[in-house]
This record gives sequence, C-alpha cells and structure tokens, in this order.
Amino acid sequence: MQRLANKRIVLGITGGVAAYKSADLVRRLQDQGAEVRVVMTRGSQQFITPLTLQALSGNPVSTDLLDPAAEAAMGHIELARWADLVMVAPATADFMARLAHGHAGDLLTTLCLATEARLVLAPAMNQAMWRNPATQRNRELLGERGVELLGPGDGVQACGDMGPGRMLEVVDLVDGVCGLLPSLLLAGKRVLITAGPTREALDPVRYLSNHSSGKMGYALAEAARQAGAEVVVVSGPVSLGCATAIRRIDVDSALSMYDAVHREVADADLFIACAAVADYRPATVQPHKIKKDAAVQEDSLQLSLVRNPDIVASVAALAARPFVVGFAAETRDVVGYAADKRVRKGLDLIVANDVAAQGIGFNSDENAVTVLGKGLEQSFAQASKSVLARSLIELFARQMGSNQN
Ligand code: PMT
Repeated sequence: MQRLANKRIVLGITGGVAAYKSADLVRRLQDQGAEVRVVMTRGSQQFITPLTLQALSGNPVSTDLLDPAAEAAMGHIELARWADLVMVAPATADFMARLAHGHAGDLLTTLCLATEARLVLAPAMNQAMWRNPATQRNRELLGERGVELLGPGDGVQACGDMGPGRMLEVVDLVDGVCGLLPSLLLAGKRVLITAGPTREALDPVRYLSNHSSGKMGYALAEAARQAGAEVVVVSGPVSLGCATAIRRIDVDSALSMYDAVHREVADADLFIACAAVADYRPATVQPHKIKKDAAVQEDSLQLSLVRNPDIVASVAALAARPFVVGFAAETRDVVGYAADKRVRKGLDLIVANDVAAQGIGFNSDENAVTVLGKGLEQSFAQASKSVLARSLIELFARQMGSNQN
C-alpha cells in the first residue's frame, strides 16, 4: 500500500553536503504515492543542481522569492497552501536559526512562515554545531511551535568528526513522514459536503442570504481529500477555490442545494452539512425589480416567506443513508440548542458553532466548536479552519468506523 497516496509534499533543500541524499528522497517519497515539489536555497545549489531535482520530481524547481516567472506559475503563497507537509532536508544550523526567529528573507523561509501544513526538518550539521547551545535553543523554539524534527542521527560525519548531526537515512526519513501525516482514514470513502450560504431571490436583482463565506466547508472538503476520500462539495455562492481533485457543484438557492444533494447522496458514505441554508424563501419571486411605489408613499414592504425543505434532516431520514453530520450556528446556549437540533433532525453528530463570539464562526479564518453525538461531547479549541477541519475529519472518520462495528 502506498502510505503517502494523495499527499502533496514540498521538499525544501538547504546548503549541506547531505543535499545529495535529497535526490533519492524525492524518489522514495514518490514511491509512496506523494506528489513532490522542490524548493532550493542558493546554498543547496552548490551541492546539487535544480535540473537534477526537476528531472526527478517531474515539476519545476523553485529557487527565488522574487522571480516573476516562477511566481506567475506557482508562487510562494500557492506553494504554501498546496502542501500537506513541508519537509526541509537537509536543514542546516543556519536555516534552523532563521526559521526559529521568523526570518523570511528567501523563498524557503517565507514559504515556511506562510504555510499551515505540518513542518518537518531533517537537521544535518557538524556535531559541535548541533551541540551548540544556540542550535539547541533554536531546536526547542521550533519544537514549541509544533515543528517536527526527524533526527539528526549519530555517527561518522562528512568532516571526519563523530557524533550527532548526520541527516537520517532516506528510508528513515520516509518512515518518519508517513508516521506524521494523518493516515488515510477515509480511503475508498465518498464524502458529500454542503458549504457556503444560499441566496433566496426576491426579484431579479435582490436576494435574502447570510454571512457564510464557505471557508469552514471548503476546509472540511480539503481535509477529507487529504484523508483519502473522494469528495463532492455542493457549494452556495462563495469566492473560494478548491483542489481539482474535489468535485464542486455550484448552486444558489436552498431548493437547488436540496436537489443537488439528493442527486449525489446515493453512494455517499459521509454527509456533512456545513452550509448556512436559508430556512425560508420568498413565497413568490417577482419577475421584475420591485419598485418603490411613489404614488402610495409606502414606508414598509411586507414579504411573505415559505419554509425551505430541511436538507440535512431529509438525508438523515433516507432508508439507506450515509453517516450524517450537521452543524448548528447558534448565538446563545450553543451546546443546548445544538444537542436538541441533533436529535430533532436525526443526525449522528452535530458541530455546535458559536457564531456570536469574536473571531470565530461566519467569515472568519478561525473557528472553535464542540462536537456532540450519542454519549459524545468533544470541544476543539480555537484554531485556523484548516487545522480544525483536519481534527474534525479524523473524529468523524473514527465515529463512522465505530458506528459500523
Ligand atoms: O462559511 P463560514 O464563513 O466558514 O462559516 C461557517 C459556518 C458558521 C457557516 C458553519 O460553521 C456553520 O455553523 N454552518 C451551519 C449554519 C447553519 O445554517 O446552521 P443552522 O443551525 O441554521 O442549521 C442546522 C443544520 O441544518 C446545518 O447543518 C444546516 O446546514 C442544516 N440545514 C438548515 C436548514 C435547511 N433548510 N437545510 C439544512 O440542511
């Protein structure tokens, strides 16, 4: 089994003699199914050429932060977002120091600052440099920020010294990476997700909607893809993009979202209703723009609304149904109302989301939630929506598994 299938790895190479091993590392990561893109510092190019790495990885090698041609193809922010994991091997003492202190003076350090992916270093340096208290302090600082270190190993060094500082062997680095990336908990599963707001038309130019940006739903879609699932997103109108491996169906109203979900749900194993669906829509859509009636001098406009079908409840009520997860956007008694909604809508799990709290919920980059199920209440502290989505997908996958046992 390929342990890194579907995984996207940025391999950073810095200027140490162990850089020659990085060529083999590219190949061994690919053997495990990973797609690899290489970023090289100027120093590393003294040891191995970008051309070699380009030929091995099958992708252009990025070397400069301020290269207009490279930025036009896949810029540093895109690379940072693209990666499931950024690995720097070899990582020199100088690179570790610059990373520990937040420098962003070249492409690789900038990318490391900008990414939300796991960051892994394979240190390689002389044993005295490794033992130096400055390097050890940098190692601690990086560890405190969640940067993982693989190695260094102990033994004879290129300079003839003996001791710690050798880059681990390629086979051990690949093993380490496989252990760090979440296992493919959803391999072979089909996941259907709703995301974003709905728009309920009043007339050809106006609609009723809400503040959902789609960020939470899209982060879940990406996390499910990373966990090996085949993912379909039924998306309300948002200005977000998603990986080409994710099938996206664009809709606008609650009715069109309902139809799309029911066309897709038959072979879904997991349905996640993250969209903020309008509960009501205008009873009639005016064929022309509603005009202020100057003759009558009306100060108010009465709207008649009718109830939209409840998409998540309708999926939960199917005879052959997937594992169903809903969200509950609440502004008070968040857990209490969410627990009630889970039972009323017949859901396996519900994610209680406080949308009145500052900095989380609608249209923010971060979120904090509590997941409720039968005999389950698990809170997730505030984190970026992509980090949170990975934890949620892991929980959903495990709960699905225990449901089937
Ligand atoms: O998109 P973001 O800006 O990132 O914000 C994320 C979010 C706040 C929208 C998200 O985390 C969230 O809480 N989504 C649910 C929003 C919502 O509509 O909650 P609700 O309590 O009104 O609905 C409960 C559940 O029923 C939801 O799963 C909803 O998708 C579903 N529903 C509601 C009405 C309806 N007609 N059909 C439904 O399926």
